[in-house]
Amino acid sequence: MTSTPVGIHDLSFATTHYALDHGVLAERLGVDPDKFYLGIGQEMMSVAAADEDIVTIAAAAAKPILDRHGVDNIRTVLLATESGVDQSKAAGLYLHPLIGLPNTARVVELKQACYGGTAGLQFAAGLIARDPSQRVLVIAADIAKYELDTPGEPTQGAAAVAMLVSANPAILELEPHSGIYSADIMDFWRPNYRTAAMVDGKTSVNAYQKATQEAWTDYRRNGGRDLTEFAAFCYHQPFTKMAFKAHRHLLESQGHTAEPAEIDAALHNTTIYNRTVGNSYTASLYLGLASLLDHTGDLTGQALAFISYGSGSVAEFFSGTVQPGYREHLRTEENRDAIATRVALDYDRYRVLHETESPSDGMYHAIPEETGRPFRLAAISGHKRIYESR
Ligand code: HMG
Repeated sequence: MTSTPVGIHDLSFATTHYALDHGVLAERLGVDPDKFYLGIGQEMMSVAAADEDIVTIAAAAAKPILDRHGVDNIRTVLLATESGVDQSKAAGLYLHPLIGLPNTARVVELKQACYGGTAGLQFAAGLIARDPSQRVLVIAADIAKYELDTPGEPTQGAAAVAMLVSANPAILELEPHSGIYSADIMDFWRPNYRTAAMVDGKTSVNAYQKATQEAWTDYRRNGGRDLTEFAAFCYHQPFTKMAFKAHRHLLESQGHTAEPAEIDAALHNTTIYNRTVGNSYTASLYLGLASLLDHTGDLTGQALAFISYGSGSVAEFFSGTVQPGYREHLRTEENRDAIATRVALDYDRYRVLHETESPSDGMYHAIPEETGRPFRLAAISGHKRIYESR
C-alpha cells in the first residue's frame, strides 16, 4: 500500500520592524566586529518594536497563506514558541480576529525550545496521514532575548514562519524516516519569572553537536538516506556559524573529511536569511529552508536534510524531497522585502526596548504606535492584550 505524500504546501515568513546592525553592537561593546561577522557569522538581528510580539509576527507570517489558500479544511493550528505571551491561553487564539482563522480548527501552543516548530510539523504530518483531506497550519514564532552585555546578546533575533501542511504538497514532501535524540540537559532555559533566557554557551554548542550526531545515528537506524544523498542540509541556526560547526562535526564523526568548500556548498544558501535575522528559535530551521529555496537553482527531486535542535534538549534529523513546480509557489520577493524593509535601530533605543517590561498592574496601558508592520499590540488592559490590524 502506498501512502499519500504529506509535507509543506506553502511557507511564508515575517520578521520585526527593527534590525540592529552587528557593527553597531560591536562598536558599543568594544568588540572586533569580525568576531560577529566571521566568528559567529551574523551581520544583523531583528528586534521587536514595543508594539510587536510573537502574536503580531505570527499573524503577519500566516495571513499570506490564508489569503492564497483559504481556510477550508484547516482543522488544526499549531503555534510553536518559547516566547509565549500567556501561560494558559494558546497564542494562536489571538490570530482568530486578526487573520480570520476558522472556528472549526483546534488551536494549540507547543513548546520545547527551538525544537517546537519541528514537533508541529511532525504532528501535522500524522494528522494528515490519518485524514488526507485535512490541512494543518503550523506556525513557528519567536523573539530571542538574552541579557544585555552577555555573550548571548549578539545571538538574539526574531521571526515567524508559517507553513501550510497538506497531502500532495507543492513544495516539500516529508520522508517517513526520522531520527530523534532527547536528553535532560541544562544548556539553555528560561524560568517563568524571567524574560531573558539563561544559557551556558559552551555547553549548548557541545550539546547541539552531540545531539546532531545521535539523531543522525537514529535516523540511519530507522532506514534513512546516506549523508552523500542530500543536496543541502538545513540546520537550526542560533547563529549561522553553528550550522557549519555542527555539519563538520557530523561529517567527521562518520569518517568523512569534508573540505570547507564542500561544507559551504551544502550549507551556505540556507544561512543567507538567518545571517541578517538572527536566532528566531523555533522559526530558524524553516527560515533556513526558505533561504535555500529562494537562493538556489532548480532543486526539483532533490533530497534535503533537516536538523532541528531545541535546548534542554530534543534533536531530530529528518528529510524531504523537493516537489516538481515548487518554484511557482515560493515567496522570494516577499521574503526579501520583509528583511530589506526593516528599520535600522539605534543602540540607545535598542537598550530601552530590551529593558522595557510589560505592565502588570491591570490598568489600561495604550502602547504607542511604533511598528510599520501589518499587526500591532495596541494596548494592555485588565491584563488582556489588545491587538489591531492595519
Ligand atoms: P563567546 O564566548 O563570546 O564567543 O560566545 P567565543 O569567544 O567562543 O567566540 C566565538 C567565535 O568567534 C570563536 O570561533 C572565536 O574564535 C571567533 P570558534 O572557535 O567557535 O570557531 N572569534 C573571532 N573570529 C574572527 N575575528 C575575531 C574573533 N574573535 C573571536 N576578531 C557563544 C559565543 C555562542 C557561546 C555565545 O554567543 C552564546 O552563549 N550564545 C547563546 C547560546 C547559543 O546560541 N548556543 C548555540 C547552541 S544551543 C541552540 O542552538 C539552542 C538555542 O537556539 C535555544 C533553543 O533551543 O531554544 C540557543
